[in-house]
Amino acid sequence: MGKIVALLAVTVLFIPLAALAGSDAVKPVPPITQTSALWLGPVKLGVLPAPPIPPDNPQTARKILLGKQLYFDTRLSRDNTISCATCHSPAMGWSDKGPTSKGIDGQMGGRRAPPASNSAYNPLQFWDGRSPSLEDQAKGPIQNPIEMGNTHQVMIRTVSDIPEYVEEFREVFGTSPITVDQVAQAIAAFERTIVTTDSPFDRFAKGDETALTCIEKKGLEIFNGKGRCSCCHWGPNFSDGRFHNLGTHMNMGKPDNGRYDITKDPKDMRAFKTPTMRDVGLRPPYLHMGNEKTVEDVIVFYNKGGGFKDPNMDPMMIPLGLSKGEIRALVAFLEHAMTSLNPEVADVKPIPASELPK
Ligand code: HEC
Ligand code: HEC
Repeated sequence: MGKIVALLAVTVLFIPLAALAGSDAVKPVPPITQTSALWLGPVKLGVLPAPPIPPDNPQTARKILLGKQLYFDTRLSRDNTISCATCHSPAMGWSDKGPTSKGIDGQMGGRRAPPASNSAYNPLQFWDGRSPSLEDQAKGPIQNPIEMGNTHQVMIRTVSDIPEYVEEFREVFGTSPITVDQVAQAIAAFERTIVTTDSPFDRFAKGDETALTCIEKKGLEIFNGKGRCSCCHWGPNFSDGRFHNLGTHMNMGKPDNGRYDITKDPKDMRAFKTPTMRDVGLRPPYLHMGNEKTVEDVIVFYNKGGGFKDPNMDPMMIPLGLSKGEIRALVAFLEHAMTSLNPEVADVKPIPASELPK
């Protein structure tokens, strides 16, 4: 068995790349089998398992609906203008139009909104990993002065003045009064339903050979092989959950120190969390400052070995020598094959204010 797997991996990694070398033309490649797709690269890519659910916040249908209402409710902000969905909009790949986010009073933040979809799989939340859970994370934006600009106290008073919310919270949690923790638990429960299990890649990984086009299969091979992408974007969520310095900051007067500001560990200097590749085509622009406009721009950035020279740059950041054809194949894979088709991610409509609890 080990031999077969090794043979498949070798075949898949090397034959198509050899065929591509020195040529921009996209030639047909032998089909990849399900087994080889799952074994490509250093660690498995594949279909997402159900997200981990913390024992103290079990999923219930009512809690999920309550969380969804709160997620789309601008009344959680100080002046009734901003909801979670303002910056994590289902129509924009659960992010915003960027480059960084515009919060209350039109204030701009310094970082891009990562997608709320599949955030259930992040071992740590935020670009710098400063939050350990979705429950903890959800409390932050409400009283962040440049996001929703409220205080927890005022937010709780507002929600507690809405009779239908009071009733719903009582049904879901069985206690009163409403607490900040309950608001956060409900929102986190909703976020754990925004998960992708049905992209063309997932169909392919489940055995449907026809789910990926030829060029997308080639893109997957480059992602796992010559591009070295899956060294960091690995596992079913296409992220190692770790922090890397890609050289995005050395040109700045006052660089964002990223993970270092949380750990004070020099190896974390200017390092940021590896984002998922799921639905990546739906949420331009890219990187934590939103300074790369398209997926292709990001790949060109990697192809030249990353950004500015930085003493702490990840050693993986070296020029890749990808041809134009190989870049096109990677773009095709990321922009189309990673886009989810599940209705619970792709078709979620914001709840209009008129339909929120009164
Ligand atoms: C004004 C825009 C804005 C609003 C409003 C906002 N967020 Fe965010 N969100 C961001 C930004 C920007 C980040 C990244 C900040 C950082 O990493 O320092 C973020 C990070 C996150 C993350 C972490 C994702 C990851 O991959 O690390 C989650 C989850 C999230 N927000 C959910 C929410 C929820 C739930 C709400 C409502 C309670 C909310 N956000 C409101 C802009 C916003
Ligand atoms: C050394 C680890 C590492 C490698 C190798 C790597 N990435 Fe990344 N990737 C990251 C990190 C970390 C970020 C976020 C960096 C930032 O915002 O500063 C990122 C961001 C991205 C983004 C932007 C996503 C978004 O939501 O903004 C794309 C697209 C991407 N990578 C694709 C690739 C591709 C394609 C390859 C292979 C050519 C690759 N990555 C190789 C770690 C890596």
